[in-house]
Amino acid sequence: MIYFDNAATTLMKPPSVAEAVVRALESFGGPARGVHEASIASSLAVYEARATIARLLGAQSAGRVAFGCNATDALNAAIEGLLPPGSHAITTAASHNSVLRPLYRKVDRDGASLSIAPIAPDGSLDIKTYEKLFRPETVLVVATHASNVTGNVYDVRRMARIAHDHGALFVLDAAQTAGAIPIHLQEDGFDAVAFTGHKSLFGPQGTGGIALSSALEIPSYRVGGSGTHSYDRVHPSFMPERLEAGTLNAHGLAGLAAGAAYLEEAGIEAVGARVRSLARRFEEAVSRIDGVCVYGGSPDAARCGIVALNVGRADSALVADRLNADFGICTRAGAHCAPLMHEALGTSDRGVVRFSFSHFNTEEEIDEGVGALEEIARELA
Ligand code: ALA
Repeated sequence: MIYFDNAATTLMKPPSVAEAVVRALESFGGPARGVHEASIASSLAVYEARATIARLLGAQSAGRVAFGCNATDALNAAIEGLLPPGSHAITTAASHNSVLRPLYRKVDRDGASLSIAPIAPDGSLDIKTYEKLFRPETVLVVATHASNVTGNVYDVRRMARIAHDHGALFVLDAAQTAGAIPIHLQEDGFDAVAFTGHKSLFGPQGTGGIALSSALEIPSYRVGGSGTHSYDRVHPSFMPERLEAGTLNAHGLAGLAAGAAYLEEAGIEAVGARVRSLARRFEEAVSRIDGVCVYGGSPDAARCGIVALNVGRADSALVADRLNADFGICTRAGAHCAPLMHEALGTSDRGVVRFSFSHFNTEEEIDEGVGALEEIARELA
């Protein structure tokens, strides 16, 4: 099997991740819920995960990182908490439904308003058009760092500066980029970074969260058991408990801490550079195949380890099925939960076949992928 679906979930993880999860399953009690060894081991692992993620994302301290299930969970908390009725938000057409649906709900239910910066057919964003969307009542921008469809990377530092110039907060959706592209929350000027564990941070599914700048507080989203202040009617207001309720996924977070520690050691720059070089090798080769159309602009456009393509007029699901059934190659077809990106690319009718790479992939696998597409294109294009 050749695994090219890393933008969905990284399958090849450093061995230390599974080892940490197994150790955790065998030895952890409830984190922050007891004084016995099993509970303390669990609490320490959660702290370790917070501290490692805080360093990797440039948050001021471990306490500025709150854990939840994934980036979607974190984005729901941010959008629910930071967009009062009657206010205005901005996002981009590159957004995933994890951003769009919470925003649409605020519009439909709470009378918020929303503007969406368009994406060009080559996957790029015109920053001047984005800037024109600001209004006096704009309080929030939620933008993806990189498209999960094409891998186009956006100039989110500049977008955050523009948001601040207009008095708005900037929340970064780093689902595709945390662990893949260096991010420094404080220095880059983001107010919050939503991340997920199961992609480039090499953690298990069901891990993720939000890192907040030292100045930002988000109202509690879920409330309930916190392990402290149990006689209060209201959930604790201090971070990170403010944004966490119920027993955390300490088993998963132990794995996330191991994945993040691996990245600290290997260096996000170096890991990312290898992924991009594999993607470029693939893209350059498949672009020469008759009938293959690659999306996302030129290979020189800022991109993160993703190559999205179609073969002739074939439905993307058919191509992904053939890759899997005949060549054992795993990709993801369809809409990738990013409907507006497909409208921008003109691919709403058939989606795209997304190849997303890992630094654990080899050049031989890339070349096998190219060979498979050549065969499929001969038949379908
Ligand atoms: N958002 C994930 C993807 O792009 C699941 O595949």
